[in-house]
This record gives sequence, structure tokens and C-alpha cells, in this order.
Amino acid sequence: MKVFVTGGTGHVGESVVRLLSESGHDSRVLTRDAEAARAWAETIPRVYPVRGDITGGVHQLAEVMKGNDAVIHIVGIIIEKGTPGFEAMHTEGTRRVVEAAKQAGVKRFIHMSALGAREGAVAHYHRTKFAAEQIVRESGFDWTIFRPSIIYGEYDEFLNTFAGIARLSPLIPVIGSGRGKLQPIWVKDVARCFVSALEMSETFGQTYEMGGDKAYSIKEILRLLLRSMGKRRIFAHMPVVVARMKAKMFDYLPGKPPFTEDQITMLGEDNVCDPTPLKEAFGLSLRPMEDYLSERFGK
Ligand SMILES: NC(=O)c1ccc[n+]([C@@H]2O[C@H](COP(=O)([O-])OP(=O)(O)OC[C@H]3O[C@@H](n4cnc5c(N)ncnc54)[C@H](OP(=O)(O)O)[C@@H]3O)[C@@H](O)[C@H]2O)c1
Repeated sequence: MKVFVTGGTGHVGESVVRLLSESGHDSRVLTRDAEAARAWAETIPRVYPVRGDITGGVHQLAEVMKGNDAVIHIVGIIIEKGTPGFEAMHTEGTRRVVEAAKQAGVKRFIHMSALGAREGAVAHYHRTKFAAEQIVRESGFDWTIFRPSIIYGEYDEFLNTFAGIARLSPLIPVIGSGRGKLQPIWVKDVARCFVSALEMSETFGQTYEMGGDKAYSIKEILRLLLRSMGKRRIFAHMPVVVARMKAKMFDYLPGKPPFTEDQITMLGEDNVCDPTPLKEAFGLSLRPMEDYLSERFGK
């Protein structure tokens, strides 16, 4: 197939694009920096970067989308600062990508959402992700929506950031109690579902929650990470009110904030699901996080 991918140069998208290539599909990868993406794409057969921006004109997006059999829409942000914001990126960006796909005559649409997306969610991230899902549901396309919990892999921010801190510092900062649960899933398992779904008509009109086989508290994940690195560190708990004050302060300082108020809000609820429907639909066995941690961070 010829597949148009948004977000294909990112942490998750790269694995999707690599697997598309390995599976014999061509991908046209939307990027704001086609020059930088060209060198990267040279290392992956059948991958062609195309310049574009999901906050830009629909007509331009439709032009670069023409001739494709499917769209995989992955673009999303977790931190608004320095970007056009959640509404513009998730909701309006998805509206544009959907509209462009209509103009380009592409009917198969695979959409990246997030676990916790729902109407009236406390986090702005989840509310805008849900609004984007609704646009996809109402598109008239053959759509499939995926809602992953946290995704780990070579380029993820969560494990890599904490591994970096653990290498340098005796203290590991934890916001609040660190008891909030996540259900991490390996990026290559996520990619398998996205790529397999392309040709599975039984996934049309379906929304799949995605998580690994086990839920862990944030502190459990950090303990497993430290164990794989062979390090002992002390957890330095930051009360949520203090973290919120710091997050407000980061808004006024230059650069990317280490965390935001919206992320603190998300930490206040568990981000877990039952992976059985996903595993059954895609015939998957999911990689245990412990296995990945020892391969990536073990000595
Ligand atoms: N990471 C997780 O744990 C996780 C969990 C659940 C859901 N998700 C969702 O998965 C998606 C990907 O996350 P990620 O962690 O892979 O993100 P990422 O590494 O930050 O990648 C972001 C991608 O979006 C592209 N992009 C950003 N702004 C754009 C714009 N205005 N127009 C076109 N492309 C744009 C970037 O391409 P260029 O820089 O090349 O333009 C890049 O390919 C997001 O929707 C996120 O909400 C992620």
C-alpha cells in the first residue's frame, strides 16, 4: 500500500514507518523539516518525506496526500508551550488532516489517540484528544482509533529522562506519591497494531485501548529501571501543590518545561486498561517491560 503518515519522524511514528517499510509498504511522511528528514529517510527503504504542517492549509495537505491508499495520523503533543496548543494540534489539526484526506480521496484512516481520552476529562490533553477522535468517527472513513497508555522505546522521554537523572544524581524526583498507575506498552508492539490494522477490515470503526500486560505505579517503573541499571537511588517526593507552583513558574521561563500542570493533572488518575481485546484482535503477545529494560539499560 501507499501510506501517508503524519508524525512519522517522532518516537512512535519512526517505528511505524520502519515496520511499514519492512512490510513492503511505501510511506510518505509529513514533516515540517523535509531537509532533516531526507537524511533520516535514506536509511529506510520506501520512505519519502514530504514537507507540510497540520496547522497549515488543507489544500496543501490534500495535494501531498493524493495517490495514497491510507492515512496514519500520529501527530500529537504532550506539552503545549512553544507549539500552537492542544486545540490547534489535536482537534483542529485532525480536522484538517481528515478534510485533506477527503479532498485527496483517501478513505482508510488510522488515528493515534491516547488512553484516558474522553468527554469531560480533567486534562486538557485528553479532552482535545477525544474531540479529535470524534472528528475521525464522524468522517465517514474506514477508521480505526488506538488509545495507548505510555509508550516506551529507544526515543521515549519518560525512561530516557529518568535514566539520565539516575546516571547523574543520587536523587530521583517524583511528583506526589508516585502511586498513580500506568500500563506501559512497547513502541514496536504499538507499531505492529498500526501496520496490521491497515488491511484488517474487522478493525474498521473500532477503538482499541492499548497497554502492556501489567500496570505499574510510577515508583514501580522507576524501581525496575534502577534495578536494570544496577543503581540504588533515593526518591525525592515533591508535593503536588509545590509541583503545580513550579509548573506555573516554568511557563514564564524560556525553554521546554520539565513538566506541566496538565501532566500533573494526568498523574492524578490511573492510566490503565484491559489489553485482552487488543491482543485478541491482533493476535499479539506483548513484550514485558522488564525484558526491554534489561536489554536497553542493563550493564
Ligand atoms: N509517547 C507516548 O507515550 C504516547 C502515549 C500515548 C499517545 N501518544 C500519542 O502518540 C503520538 C506521537 O507521540 P510521540 O511521543 O511519538 O511524539 P514525538 O516524538 O514528539 O513526535 C511528534 C511528531 O509530530 C510531528 N509534528 C509535530 N508538529 C507538527 C505539525 N505542526 N505538523 C506536522 N507534523 C508535526 C513531528 O514531525 P516533524 O518534527 O518532523 O515535523 C514528529 O514526527 C502523539 O499523538 C501522542 O499524543 C504518545
